[in-house]
Amino acid sequence: MSTNNTMNSPTHSLVLYSNSEAETENIGFAIGNAMNCGTLIGLNGTLGAGKTRLTQGIGKGLGIKHGQIVSPTFTICVPHEGRIPFLHLDAYRIQTAEEVDELGLDEMLENGVSLIVEWFDLIRPLLPTVDLEIQIDAPTKDSRNFAFSSKTKNGKQILNALKSKNLNQS
Ligand SMILES: Nc1ncnc2c1ncn2[C@@H]1O[C@H](COP(=O)(O)OP(=O)(O)O)[C@@H](O)[C@H]1O
Ligand SMILES: [Mg+2]
Repeated sequence: MSTNNTMNSPTHSLVLYSNSEAETENIGFAIGNAMNCGTLIGLNGTLGAGKTRLTQGIGKGLGIKHGQIVSPTFTICVPHEGRIPFLHLDAYRIQTAEEVDELGLDEMLENGVSLIVEWFDLIRPLLPTVDLEIQIDAPTKDSRNFAFSSKTKNGKQILNALKSKNLNQS
């Protein structure tokens, strides 16, 4: 019988709903609380979807002081030190594969640094297997849908933690 990674690692998924920035922060907080070292989280969604707001919640869950996580407009990536070290990366302005290579992200992940990537789809092929992917959609001005999918044990563990919390599920 043939086996492959897809068969061995089914995608686990979850959708959470938010009706305010505070609810989005709560979702992020729960993710940050559940995160392990060396976790790669990819965020997708258009401009203004809430990638940075969610990351601020994640930072809070990781014990980062309020106000430290901002939209990384001029810098591609910003390191933070909370309960675990993590890097907030915005791929929007990345032009070449070399720019990503120079960051040495594979090595950082192996050394236990966790990584949160906004505009993940733009650099997906340049990164190792993502633990948790989050697609953010904005059906109305104040509502947001967070569609989670995980393919690794690490990502699944975060999803299970989210399922056990009192967050808006479908
Ligand atoms: N439920 C919500 N969750 C998150 N942001 C929301 C929500 N409702 C409205 N917003 C607004 O959406 C914008 C999200 O911005 P931001 O997180 O910087 O987006 P991105 O990083 O995806 O470009 C903010 O202006 C915020 O006030
Ligand atoms: Mg952003």
